Amino acid sequence: MSMNSLVALSLLTWTIFTGVESGSLNSRINVSAGVLASSEIFDSSVNQWKATGSMATPREYHTATLLNSDKILVIGGEGFAGYMTSCEIYDPSTGQWDVIASMKTARADHAAILLGSGKVLVAGGRGYSESLINCEIYDPLTSKWHPTANMSIARPHLTATVLNSGKVLVTGSVASSELYDPVTGHWQTPTRMATARSGHSATLLKSGKVLVTGGSDVGNYLTSSEIYDPSTDQWDTISSMSTARSSHAAILLGSGKVLVTGGVGYSDFMATCELYDPSTDKWHNITSMTAERCYHTTTMLKSGKILATAGYGYTGDLDSSEIYDPSTGQWDRSAKLATTRSYHTATMLTSGKVLVTGGEN
Ligand SMILES: *[C@@H]1O[C@H](CO)[C@@H](O)[C@H](O)[C@H]1NC(C)=O
Ligand SMILES: *[C@@H]1O[C@H](CO)[C@@H](O)[C@H](O)[C@H]1NC(C)=O
Ligand SMILES: *[C@@H]1O[C@H](CO)[C@@H](O)[C@H](O)[C@H]1NC(C)=O
Repeated sequence: MSMNSLVALSLLTWTIFTGVESGSLNSRINVSAGVLASSEIFDSSVNQWKATGSMATPREYHTATLLNSDKILVIGGEGFAGYMTSCEIYDPSTGQWDVIASMKTARADHAAILLGSGKVLVAGGRGYSESLINCEIYDPLTSKWHPTANMSIARPHLTATVLNSGKVLVTGSVASSELYDPVTGHWQTPTRMATARSGHSATLLKSGKVLVTGGSDVGNYLTSSEIYDPSTDQWDTISSMSTARSSHAAILLGSGKVLVTGGVGYSDFMATCELYDPSTDKWHNITSMTAERCYHTTTMLKSGKILATAGYGYTGDLDSSEIYDPSTGQWDRSAKLATTRSYHTATMLTSGKVLVTGGEN
């Protein structure tokens, strides 16, 4: 295949992704192209990916949350039969998965986050009734799901961040954020944001503020960024990235700066990276990754280096991974995964190894 037709194919695929983002094509998409049940573990001490137990059900657009028990809870997503309620728990000591109680609502692209109580809050996402407004809580001690208050508005694409107060900030789909209080089980009145975003990132800074950057708003890719200050419950628009990007990844470094990697923009998939310095409110271009990636994951290793895993690029789903060293500012290729995958999850285990689950290929 010529390079041009590869690009055309990628852009065609991207139109489908964009449709997914707007929620309009949900029911028409057949995700059976290759949804994965397989899981792999990265051991940075030997630079090796190794297969571990497979999930009972192939899934993508799911979430994975590290529980206080050191086990990993995988929730919902899309599989061969559509949106899913099913959940599974991975035990790192045995390498096995157990199917557990299902949620009430089938959902994908939802947010899931560990609360201070050890329970897990699941919010929003896409489902059979389109955009979801409802939320559920999983209690690992009783292995049961319970309903909790609905958000004020449906959010098919959202981020969730636990603040230092223990409250959960959700952003996305509309130009507002809302705060969930786990003590009362209620959502506070929404706070206005400058921009409605999907495919954006949200990162808790050392100051306790939250940086939201990029994403797309009705087909426009965004460079803009906003910061949430919990002490005033207000958003401020801050300086913008150099490049408009969506479906990128963002992660806090040990230095307090935020590393933004890849994504997709107006013309192409991106390998470029930018670093945000909260102390100066400035963005800096830094060394690009070795591959264009969107729908990839970034994970901080125990060394403070950042592992970027798989994702989607010009050649389709990727099996490569690479590591950023903040002390040299360089990316180095790391081992290849057994399987190409995007829309997967990556979770740092207590052992320091990284568990990657599911996705598509
Ligand atoms: C999706 O595609 C698979 C394989 O081609 C097919 O068996 C299945 O019925 C399709 N599902 C839907 C909902 O169209
Ligand atoms: C939450 O939203 C769902 C779906 O719109 C609705 O059926 C349900 O009654 C709502 N629950 C509450 C407690 O408002
Ligand atoms: C950063 O990179 C982008 C494209 O990758 C470029 O358009 C921009 O001019 C660069 N900014 C600086 C300050 O070099």
